[in-house]
Amino acid sequence: MTVSIEPPLAMLAEITHRCPLRCPYCSNPLELSKRSHELSTKVWLNILDEASELGILQVHFSGGEPTVRDDLTVLIKHAEKKGLYSNLITSGVLIDKSKLDSFIDSGLQHIQLSIQGADSEVGDYIGGFPGGHQKKLEVAQLIHDVDLPLTLNAVVHRHNIGQIKKIINLAEKLHAQRLEVANVQYYGWGFFNRKNLLPTREQLMEATEEVNKARDRLKGKLVIDYVVPDYYARRPKACMGGWGRRFLNINPAGYVLPCHAAETIPGLRFERVTDKSLSEIWYHGSAFEAFRGTDWMPAPCSTCDRKEIDWGGCRCQAAAITGRPDATDPACELSPDHGSMNSIAQNESKPSQEQFQYRRM
Ligand code: SF4
Ligand code: FES
Repeated sequence: MTVSIEPPLAMLAEITHRCPLRCPYCSNPLELSKRSHELSTKVWLNILDEASELGILQVHFSGGEPTVRDDLTVLIKHAEKKGLYSNLITSGVLIDKSKLDSFIDSGLQHIQLSIQGADSEVGDYIGGFPGGHQKKLEVAQLIHDVDLPLTLNAVVHRHNIGQIKKIINLAEKLHAQRLEVANVQYYGWGFFNRKNLLPTREQLMEATEEVNKARDRLKGKLVIDYVVPDYYARRPKACMGGWGRRFLNINPAGYVLPCHAAETIPGLRFERVTDKSLSEIWYHGSAFEAFRGTDWMPAPCSTCDRKEIDWGGCRCQAAAITGRPDATDPACELSPDHGSMNSIAQNESKPSQEQFQYRRM
């Protein structure tokens, strides 16, 4: 069945890949864009114009670390002029009071601040940035002082999932409205470091219990988003809300992607926003058309009653594990590849002596 194409809801604007942190699960590709390949301010202003015309409602400024660019306030201001809700996804380590004030004066409406652990010992080790955790605590306080809505993003894995209770307490102490507990997604750097990141099933069950207890305790005070990691799931999540349905992503070099990890899928051809209009790429770009809707689906998805709920799961994960981007997501227990995903989880969640391969240019 052909599904009608709606305008995208949100745009992830990856304005740079530069970042002072070195998280070993970074969602950026292994081959990072150099500063010299980044789009100019003028091009980003045009993109924001086009995004607004296309009907996009939200822009998420991201990276890398978006605050390394000194034109960020100009971009936020323009997003506001165009009626776009703007959110900043940041590690926080480069933000001080005057920078924060300039973002707010420009119209910033929300901040998502990442933490790598519940304390400096774990946080600084995972982020590969000494002093980073303490700096994040200070920035969270500044954000609270100016009353800007704050979401805390905690990416969890073997080395910090045991801290989940402390992470929730920290979110409460920092006055976050929302805590996103996101399990590492295993593509790009996460795939590269999978053996050193996958949690065990026991770790996961303990963490899930803690989250459920905290959700009851903090009802009305802190919203906790938490999704079981795919490697232990029985059904996949609707990755990106379905391919080419709700989101688009623009990388630092101007390529328009259906998801932040789409470049890990071999054989897709991406177009640049400097060569074609955003609208043309969204509605007719070959990468967007490749897995949009349900016509591309193989069995068992093609006849499944969940096919318009999870949209077949995650294409990047299917490609990473099976080598076939059009395969049923192996997170689904109906997939013929589900067994191999279980084996990976079992084998690779064992303690390992391997060192992290930290993200690097
Ligand atoms: Fe989703 Fe496909 Fe599994 Fe059905 S078979 S639950 S559509 S992934
Ligand atoms: Fe690319 Fe899921 S991360 S489709």
